[in-house]
Amino acid sequence: MIIAVDGPTASGKGTIARQLAAHFAVPYLDTGLLYRAVGRQVDLNGGDADSAADALAASDFDESLLDDPALRSEAVGSLASRVSVHPQVRAALNKRQVDFAHQPGGALLDGRDIGTVIAPDADVKLFITAPAEIRARRRHAEMVERGEQVAFETILSDTIARDERDTNRADAPLKAAQDALLLDTGDLTIGEAVQRAIALVNAQI
Ligand code: C5P
Repeated sequence: MIIAVDGPTASGKGTIARQLAAHFAVPYLDTGLLYRAVGRQVDLNGGDADSAADALAASDFDESLLDDPALRSEAVGSLASRVSVHPQVRAALNKRQVDFAHQPGGALLDGRDIGTVIAPDADVKLFITAPAEIRARRRHAEMVERGEQVAFETILSDTIARDERDTNRADAPLKAAQDALLLDTGDLTIGEAVQRAIALVNAQI
């Protein structure tokens, strides 16, 4: 069974994906981490995330980067969004995602283009959303909890900018597959959202 989970930043898709994978006992890949690793590697190389050549060179990143807690930072998330625009970078990362999705026994992947590009043949596709204002509030609360001082307005404008870049890029833009089931988590607690997601998957298999 292949489960594809897509959606914008801070929609809750990461938490939902992890819990779904545990519930249905399938291996899980957070594909955003791959793009984050490329973004971080560009930075370490002293390159420019907007340069296709620099971003492509960084797609040969050091695997140990995937365990680096710095990958979760806002700064690296923004770099990831910039490198992920380059088709050469997406092509370089595609094979490992396609292979992971199609391993015997199934898999669950979350990202932006899992249901549309990586696994259009997925058995279940979920598209997780929530209004930008609510997603920005979640990100802001997480940062405050980590002790980071940042204005809510900054996070809101960054969230909107990230959505626009991810949605409007030519190659593999963020969008719901035609056969995806939509789940808006705006008014739900994370526990409620996970229960809804489990019910949606169960109804499809
Ligand atoms: O999901 P996460 O916030 O970790 O992703 C960081 C960035 O990586 C996204 O904003 C998006 O631009 C890019 N990404 C992508 N395709 C994926 C996963 C992430 O383009 N499958």
